[in-house]
Amino acid sequence: MSSSKFQTLHGMVDILPGESEKWNWLESVIRETAREFHFSEIRTPVMEPTELIARGVGQLTDIVSKEMFGFSRGETNYVLRPEGTAPVARAYVQHRLDQRGGAQKLFYIGPMFRAERPQKGRQRQFHQFGAELMGTDSPLADVEVIRFMMRVYEKIGLANITLMLNSVGDPESRAAYKTALQAYFRPHLSKLSEVSQTRFEQNPMRILDSKEAEDQPYLADAPLITDYLNGHCREHFAQVKNLLTNEGISFTENPRLVRGLDYYTKTAFELVSPDVGSQDALGGGGRYDLLVEEIGGAPTPAVGFACGMERLMLACEALGIQIGGDAALDVYLVCRGTEAQRWAMHAMPAIRKTGQSCTMDFSGKSIKAQLKDANRQQTRFAVIVGEQELADQKFTFRDMHQSTEEALPFEEILSRLATA
Ligand code: HAM
Repeated sequence: MSSSKFQTLHGMVDILPGESEKWNWLESVIRETAREFHFSEIRTPVMEPTELIARGVGQLTDIVSKEMFGFSRGETNYVLRPEGTAPVARAYVQHRLDQRGGAQKLFYIGPMFRAERPQKGRQRQFHQFGAELMGTDSPLADVEVIRFMMRVYEKIGLANITLMLNSVGDPESRAAYKTALQAYFRPHLSKLSEVSQTRFEQNPMRILDSKEAEDQPYLADAPLITDYLNGHCREHFAQVKNLLTNEGISFTENPRLVRGLDYYTKTAFELVSPDVGSQDALGGGGRYDLLVEEIGGAPTPAVGFACGMERLMLACEALGIQIGGDAALDVYLVCRGTEAQRWAMHAMPAIRKTGQSCTMDFSGKSIKAQLKDANRQQTRFAVIVGEQELADQKFTFRDMHQSTEEALPFEEILSRLATA
């Protein structure tokens, strides 16, 4: 680590050359998958009104109560978005996206911000890709978004993943469950963590998501939501499971799966990997049939997911999966003297038009240093130019991989590069 005066903020990282190629590649896989599934990209601002996130994600969640990066300016309270679903729902209402007809299939890629304690797989600025299918309550939609999510991992070659599935019910089912949970936790209330005590009255389901040590002994025997689902939710859940099975998507039912956000109804899922350490959730999502209404829109059932891109990369690293990112250079113009540099500057556009990447030395290094630089960049071809080459109009075309070279006119070099 350097001793430079300014450093990235705690939990935030620079994505440097060498890494950024991997990100570009990963993003291209996501975009290509979105195209195949016919999801359209939506890009929302990184800042949103605090109230949108508080109402959307839920006042009592860790995200809203402890992890928001917010500030105010004048009368307005801003928050750096901790997730993408509430912002997409806002955009859906604001721009009347329902009027585009049919269910809307939207996807996004971008940075999210949560003031969590950083550790491996957990950052304060991290990146998600996600999708939202809005305007249908069909279980087919639940399976379509799960299939989109799984397809990205399949393309990357990450097979060692488990889809955990649960239903968190609707308000009616949850009211019955809430009563059962309160009855269960009440005798232990004074021994629960302070934060769980505050959640007990309003949202005891949040207690199940607690990471506090004091709460752990009481979580294992807590009642399960699946025993309190009403007929409608049970039927939806059964259909989702049935469709997943028919589509060959394996899953593990986990009746203890509660997500960290309050907007979920019915289907909830998480994708976990044993290869990323303690932060093992690669992604998660579910149905949120009431969110759009909650933030002021017309009733709009919807379902979606989001996945952490850093965690995906960690899983690839752990499993030795090489992800994209070919940073190698195609052509390096090695120049001896300023005339040669001028020639090279003029030659580069024609080389680039052949589709090959191309650069040169701008600082007048020695030939040896330029060739070393070319090697460092894993360059495939070097074109060497000096006074003699300019006089002869024949340039040394070196295949750096084969260690062969020929003196060729520039036109011939271009035609070789066009087919290389
Ligand atoms: P989430 O479970 O809060 O869901 O986040 C989704 C994924 O983002 C996590 O599984 C994890 O991979 C990644 N993630 C979350 N926090 C961090 C962090 N601090 N550092 C690194 N990665 C992180 C949502 O955000 C929902 N909006 C998903 C959704 C979409 N539900 C419906 N539609």
